[in-house]
Amino acid sequence: MSLDAPSTNARYGSNAGQPLTRRDGVLKVTGRATYAADNHPDGMLYAVTAVSRIARGRVTSLDVEATKAHPGVVEVMTPASRPPLAHDPDEKMPPFGFRIEVLQDSTVRYANQPIALVIAETLEAATEGAALLNPQYDADEPRTGIDDGLRFDPPAVGVGGPPKAAFGDVEAGLAKAAQVLERDYVTPAQYHNAMEPHAVVAEWDGDHVMLDMPNQALAMSCASYATYFGIPPENVTIRSPFLGGGFGSKAIINGPQILAILAARALKRPVKLVLSRAQMYGPVGHRGGTWQKLRIGLNNDGQLTALHHKSISATSSFDDFLEPAANASTHLYASPALLSEHEGIRLDTGTPGPMRAPGEASGSAALEVAIDEAADACGMDPLDFRLHNYAETEPGSGRPFSSKALRECYAEGAKRFGWAGRPLASRQMRDKNGFLVGWGMGTALFPCPHFPAEARATLRADGTALVETAGADMGQGAWTALAQIAAEALGLDPEQVELHSGISTLPDGGIAGGSGHTASAGLALNNAGKDAIAQLSELATNDPASPLFGAGNIGVEARAGRLYRRDDETRSESYAEILARAGRREIVGTAKASRDPAAAEAHAMFSHGAVFAEVKVDPDLGQIRVTRLVGAFAAGRIINPRLVESQYFGGMIWGVSFALHEEAIIDHRTGRIMNADLAEYHVPINADIPSLEAILIPENDPFVNAIGVKGVGEIGITGTVGAIANAIWHATGVRVRKFPVRLEDII
Ligand code: MOS
Repeated sequence: MSLDAPSTNARYGSNAGQPLTRRDGVLKVTGRATYAADNHPDGMLYAVTAVSRIARGRVTSLDVEATKAHPGVVEVMTPASRPPLAHDPDEKMPPFGFRIEVLQDSTVRYANQPIALVIAETLEAATEGAALLNPQYDADEPRTGIDDGLRFDPPAVGVGGPPKAAFGDVEAGLAKAAQVLERDYVTPAQYHNAMEPHAVVAEWDGDHVMLDMPNQALAMSCASYATYFGIPPENVTIRSPFLGGGFGSKAIINGPQILAILAARALKRPVKLVLSRAQMYGPVGHRGGTWQKLRIGLNNDGQLTALHHKSISATSSFDDFLEPAANASTHLYASPALLSEHEGIRLDTGTPGPMRAPGEASGSAALEVAIDEAADACGMDPLDFRLHNYAETEPGSGRPFSSKALRECYAEGAKRFGWAGRPLASRQMRDKNGFLVGWGMGTALFPCPHFPAEARATLRADGTALVETAGADMGQGAWTALAQIAAEALGLDPEQVELHSGISTLPDGGIAGGSGHTASAGLALNNAGKDAIAQLSELATNDPASPLFGAGNIGVEARAGRLYRRDDETRSESYAEILARAGRREIVGTAKASRDPAAAEAHAMFSHGAVFAEVKVDPDLGQIRVTRLVGAFAAGRIINPRLVESQYFGGMIWGVSFALHEEAIIDHRTGRIMNADLAEYHVPINADIPSLEAILIPENDPFVNAIGVKGVGEIGITGTVGAIANAIWHATGVRVRKFPVRLEDII
């Protein structure tokens, strides 16, 4: 079946494939999907981390004796007793060089830092044992605010060093501008809060270890664990068939999981560790807070003369990851001069890390509000202003975009939303209940990274296929979309293609991150499928008994489980027939795939979109409701429009969350997060999202990869945050530059 069959896709547009439902959907909704913590190998022990209640200082004592006296407790691991590791955890390890917290010493660097691991026969005993440790501290004043921390310039390379982008002369551009806008924006620390907490069940067999854990980057994690445990990477197997959300945090290995694996090795029994919700607020990454400044020069025609975006991004006292927020400004609007740069600030917090749309989410929030302010300063409609500053080529380099249907996104989104006729000034619209109504918009943008990936495609004697790649389905529907890509390459119906994924023993499917998984693992599956078909064609066209004999140079086409001669449709043969006559049980195609470096060099590659928001604000109480959201996105070829729409919805809902809900609230006296739970760390519920529409704009991209697929996972957050903040301004006349926007900010 062709992905491009148009009949069922009128709703989704002309370049979209089949809107199949998720292969794993029924397993999940019936509770039969096995998540990491569902594994219970024989003889398994339970581990619980004890965590610090202070944010900075030292643990002076732990009552290990009291814990060990508990009848269920088997062992207590503290800095004094932690078995050695083969790699110094204080040393960064490429490629995602993070320093890992694994009981190196008694220093406390953030609240909720693991300070001991208690291993017991039952979860209850481990939990009680951890409570009996009764830690005593020597506490120092925590540094948690922008004025408290040590500032530093980011390192030039590595994960902690967002690139500084610069072209043109920004100061000269600002000096000659008719007006200059200078604005400050603040975004908070946010935590991933995947439904499934970080977990591991570790079981050693000699110097091999089996790890059941949710994981977004199987091969990379195997290599990292192997380094820490001093064993070859092939001795580490990670099983991660399902993830209850990842958002970036499950691409990075972390201290608690390493401790549990160490315990399993030391005690020669399987060990399970599942973090509690509260314990997720610390050792497993988060989105660091930012303080951003934008300076925008404008001429009398409403064009940018210069753009300066600087982010001060929070990180921990012991590592360097910085939210690369200012990157959001580097590829969107045409400006003759641009400077984007970062400064770090060290706070007493766990180390931040990638969290859905890292950099772009926080940076776009600031940029899109600043652009709205610039439009207002020029007396222009926000959409007109954006079109006026549209980047036809990549700002700075002048390289062409591999594809860019952003104009179509603007036009289609505006039409569907009903943007025309929007009053320019704020406080002009009311609904029948007297609520203030506002309309705002934002541009969405996300890069298209591509990870090297491998795959195997086995055509079987019955004409069906098995395709394999060690990918990760975090919930995005990878099992389904990847099978569709493989099916097309193999000329089969997706129903005839079995996909195996989610275990590290399979060919490396690359990283499920950066919105690049479908493109990366998909390209590998496409190429492996094509390799299998090429071998099959070889068999048939060289076999005098085949109707395809001699078609070698003319070529054959794979369709509906048969090979057809290109020059003669009446001459065809089924895969099963070809294999049977050749006496072959199967044909195995393989591929290692990555992006064509020449195409990457010659083009700028991004997904684009436009988001339009309507809010209603109670003029007396300040309560803000998002009442409508329309997003139009162009992301190359759409493999499965149902899943892609779902990704856009998820991103846009996260945009609502960023704009109005999410914030880790820190008690600056103790350095502790006061809302480390899902009751008080707010995310939107259904009632917060009344009307949501995602439009899939057709876009053909011949350069991004051979399957024309860009990324859809993260772009929905970008654009949406600014659109909502801008709609709030349009409703109320109050410009809020700090997220989330609270009712007290607008009354
Ligand atoms: Mo995403 S932050 O690359 O999982």
